[in-house]
Amino acid sequence: MDNREPVLQVRHLKQYFGRKDFKAVDDISFDIYPGEVFGLVGESGCGKTTTGRAIIKLYNITGGEVIFKGQRISAGPRTFTDAIAAEKKASAQRTEELKKSGDAQAVQAEEQRLAAFIQEQKQAAKEARRDQKDCVKLYRERRVREIREEYEPRLAAASGEARHALEKERDARLKEASRENIVTKMQMIFQDPVSSLNPRMTVREIIAEGLRIQGVRDEKYINDQVCQMLERVGLVKEHADRYPHEFSGGQRQRIGIARAVVMKPELIIADEPVSALDVSIQAQVINLLNDLRHEMGLTILFIAHDLSVVKYFSDRIAVMYFGKIVELAGSDELFAHPMHPYTRSLLSAIPLPDPDYEQRRKRIVYQPAIAHDYSQEGPQFMEIVPGHFVSANSAEAARYKAEYGL
Ligand SMILES: Nc1ncnc2c1ncn2[C@@H]1O[C@H](COP(=O)(O)OP(=O)(O)OP(=O)(O)O)[C@@H](O)[C@H]1O
Ligand SMILES: [Mg+2]
Repeated sequence: MDNREPVLQVRHLKQYFGRKDFKAVDDISFDIYPGEVFGLVGESGCGKTTTGRAIIKLYNITGGEVIFKGQRISAGPRTFTDAIAAEKKASAQRTEELKKSGDAQAVQAEEQRLAAFIQEQKQAAKEARRDQKDCVKLYRERRVREIREEYEPRLAAASGEARHALEKERDARLKEASRENIVTKMQMIFQDPVSSLNPRMTVREIIAEGLRIQGVRDEKYINDQVCQMLERVGLVKEHADRYPHEFSGGQRQRIGIARAVVMKPELIIADEPVSALDVSIQAQVINLLNDLRHEMGLTILFIAHDLSVVKYFSDRIAVMYFGKIVELAGSDELFAHPMHPYTRSLLSAIPLPDPDYEQRRKRIVYQPAIAHDYSQEGPQFMEIVPGHFVSANSAEAARYKAEYGL
């Protein structure tokens, strides 16, 4: 649906917790394109925050991978151990059959094939560990290479003053690239504006912290940035020397937003940024995010438990249920043609300011055991119409298509 390279690619992401492998996030995939607002919606405990935290590397992910700005920044070991286990099992079965047929040569070939496969997976696991650990350095190296390659033909074609100017420009970009930290180009705005701000730090210290960690020492620059950000989020520079408890919930969330945008991020993960706020304040904070998105060219992963909050703000929406994405579509498309029964139940929960509709509105309760018959065939994530994906088995997919008039 978009030919540009996604800002973020999440591939088969798995985040398990504890020795019993509690599957908080269980094999989810999606892309987010430049400038897009991507909504992630689902009820409490379905794994939304965990997804956000996994993306920004607050966890070592269990399986799958996260690719940001074309750089793999996380890759989980389970991808490879699971592949090896599955292949061993399949191979054992094949070997058994080959032995029965008495083909010793084929048995040996199968053993070799398995050994080669395991070797390959181990190599891939090694590369995954390296990307996970060294993504900042690897991204810098790649950018430096790319910038050099970009300027090479241009420099060859130029001479004299023009060439000199071009060299200066290239060197400035190289310097910048060699300092860029890809991980801080993703910033999270947290769910709870009270606990996410350190009560012992002034607003100035809170907003400046990320810059300082990055090694910025220029106090004047830091101060200017803090004041600029405060104004940008609708506060005033006099607020800089106050403490978080002196602010209202909405103002605290603005401070949280300032702390994120001061890092000049390319991707913001906004984790239910308004659900702790009064309804009257919610729209203000959403509007602020929307303005910043256009001014700064931000891409946003917007997390919410309520579809009505994400509807107008999101370009596309993914609906999550118990660690899995059950439906993904353009925002208008999802509201016009919801397919998965869980999405329909979420939609049925949205009240509308229309008394007739409210009289007729029936809350649909999603009960997986009743809604689906997966005894013969389990669900897969399928594209029913272009760009509209749903978790379904073939019978359900046929029904969704029929309902669509296809
Ligand atoms: N560090 C952790 N260790 C163990 N379990 C965890 C951890 N973090 C989250 N979980 C569990 O994973 C599941 C998903 O949690 P998560 O916070 O991602 O949900 P959520 O969708 O953000 O919910 P909410 O809308 O309430 O914020 C929950 O059952 C939670 O208890
Ligand atoms: Mg959460």
